[in-house]
Amino acid sequence: MALGENKAVVSVRNVRRKFAERAVLDGIDLDIAQGEIVALLGRSGCGKSTFLRVLASLDPLSTGEVRVPAKKSVVFQEPRLLPWKRVWRNVALGLDCNAEEGKRRAITALEEVGLAARAEAWPGTLSGGEAQRVALARALVREPALLLLDEPFGALDALTRIKMHALMAELLKRHRPAVLLVTHDVDEAILLADRAVVLSMPEPGLTTGGSQIVAEIKIDVALPRRRRDPAFAALRRELLGYLGVDDDDEDARASGIRNSSARTSSIPAPTGALASATP
Ligand SMILES: Nc1ncnc2c1ncn2[C@@H]1O[C@H](COP(=O)(O)OP(=O)(O)O)[C@@H](O)[C@H]1O
Ligand SMILES: [Mg+2]
Repeated sequence: MALGENKAVVSVRNVRRKFAERAVLDGIDLDIAQGEIVALLGRSGCGKSTFLRVLASLDPLSTGEVRVPAKKSVVFQEPRLLPWKRVWRNVALGLDCNAEEGKRRAITALEEVGLAARAEAWPGTLSGGEAQRVALARALVREPALLLLDEPFGALDALTRIKMHALMAELLKRHRPAVLLVTHDVDEAILLADRAVVLSMPEPGLTTGGSQIVAEIKIDVALPRRRRDPAFAALRRELLGYLGVDDDDEDARASGIRNSSARTSSIPAPTGALASATP
């Protein structure tokens, strides 16, 4: 890393993980600098969530060296809200402060995701996109040095996802945590990340030979990032190539690799998506 760049807040060396005799991760090395957004791409089942769990310190059985900050938050594909607690209480849950301060901080975080008006609502009354914004508020209220996102938009419809991309970009710019964004959506990686890392797919049935990092690509597309930018299209092609998919391959979706430009081709490109703060 060049002098003057932020030092790594995440440092991973030679991480391995087996389930029974089957290797899933086979020697992963990765650094993430403060404020850097790294997208982790790979096919379904290649070990992305397994790796995220290692960084979240949720998996004591991995081997290798893992240095992560103490303050970290995780957002999963499902919002995982407690249905018997009002929205603001879900956000404040586990905060190390008194109730009054907790509520104040929760409301501030809800304002950031555009949901302060729903602070007293029950989670069951929220839409999928709203519930995921609450999950995001719950992650950010902790002011994490590392934010771990496991397919956080995977369950949302295409339009909501576009809005969430804009909101996420805005929030990450403001909070500047180190980010690992697990996704199998190549466009999402290019829209949001500074760097994309691609995991290979382990051979089915093999007892050795888990996933490894097969590509690490700096995402050098001008901001605000637009799908119609030729640099965007070139990166998409390159990343899909590493995933073993042609850009306009009909099998892409069947194999679990989503090329969201294909899915949302009837929707106008989100002009200035990254610059817009409207959730
Ligand atoms: N707790 C577990 N026990 C056994 N196998 C697991 C466990 N968790 C994940 N795996 C296996 O490890 C592989 C990688 O899973 P995962 O990390 O969830 O993939 P991804 O997130 O890339 O879709 C899969 O084959 C999965 O079945
Ligand atoms: Mg997963």
